[in-house]
Amino acid sequence: MNVAETTRTFLGFFQDRGHQVIAGGSLVPPGDGPVLFTAAGMHPLTPYLDGGPPHPQGRRLTGLQRCLRTTDLGEVGDERHLTVFQMLGSWSLGDYGGPQSLRWGFELITEILGTKRDRLYATVFGGDGQLGPDLAAQRTWDELGVPVELTTDDNWWSNGPTGPCGPDSELFAWTGDGPPQGRPTTDERWMELWNHVTMRFRRHGDGRLEPLPRPNVDTGMGLERLLMITQGVPSVFGTDVFRPWMTALPALWQPDDLSLRLIADHLRASIVIIGDGVRPSSTGRGYVLRRLLRRVLTMLWRTDRSRTLGELPAGLLEHTLAQFGQDGDPELIRGILGDEERRFAELMTRGHKVLARFGRGWQPTSQDLSYLHQTHGLPPDLVTELLGEPGETRSRVLGR
Ligand code: ALA
Repeated sequence: MNVAETTRTFLGFFQDRGHQVIAGGSLVPPGDGPVLFTAAGMHPLTPYLDGGPPHPQGRRLTGLQRCLRTTDLGEVGDERHLTVFQMLGSWSLGDYGGPQSLRWGFELITEILGTKRDRLYATVFGGDGQLGPDLAAQRTWDELGVPVELTTDDNWWSNGPTGPCGPDSELFAWTGDGPPQGRPTTDERWMELWNHVTMRFRRHGDGRLEPLPRPNVDTGMGLERLLMITQGVPSVFGTDVFRPWMTALPALWQPDDLSLRLIADHLRASIVIIGDGVRPSSTGRGYVLRRLLRRVLTMLWRTDRSRTLGELPAGLLEHTLAQFGQDGDPELIRGILGDEERRFAELMTRGHKVLARFGRGWQPTSQDLSYLHQTHGLPPDLVTELLGEPGETRSRVLGR
């Protein structure tokens, strides 16, 4: 099943069970909230999950939402983390409870999408000082024949320090070569696939938990991770979502495998961020975008300085926008990528000239960094980059 068929199957499954499909929203949340980017499928539903007015489409919803998690940036490049990804979701707004959600999840994953049940493991909230264990979830998995591991912190989900939250149960899929081993917390080859949150509480600023008037269920599953399992490939970069990237990029540049993954991830993320109206800048969302593009350019220039982002095939940009349901103009986006590339190239040239005055092995103090930033427009991370050895730079880029 390709990505479009998989998405249709997921949404159709929930539609058959009385859910309405909600339209996915922008990566940029509306209003001036504290969140830079939409990081979970439930973000646009927060008022409805938080005891607000009834949702105009009813109490059972399903959808696909583009998400960006800056918290995962350090892990991008491994088998399963992406900067921008799509989250499939299902929601019960005060309607059915957690066990029903787990049962449907299990049915969809095993009977419809064909994952063998012995390749699944579940984690369940095991209780803490305030709340007891989620016995209903544990019983449900027991009845379905899925092994369960109890945890505390890993099985509590919240939207932020305050707001709707609750215990969750996560379904893991085995991604190793041989037969499954260990448990989700002991063997990393168990990959978190689908999170089912029983959103029953509202957290207040003083840490207090207040039961919500209507308990909800909020579920989220990374589409690219699901494809990894259903398409039987060892990483998200091997799914059909990334096929055009993995063909187009090596035809222009020849980075090593890890850099190729990072470049594909960051460029794809940049296109989607620009598609949602963000422009490179020195603050906020624009700065996240700028950092992604600068990481990409640093890696690309190491392999071939003569090529430019303007050479990215239009089809690749179109493919990416279409995949994320965006109607951005590929040429406009290519222009923005090109402008940022030129700007960074000029900054690098200026930086090299300025830093050459200080000689090899120079270690700038924080005052030096501030001087270079204020007088020469060289941000501290760029100075560190320019002064670093390639090996060091690489580990910094990878966040390892
Ligand atoms: N909101 C939950 C998550 O993002 C489903 O994991």
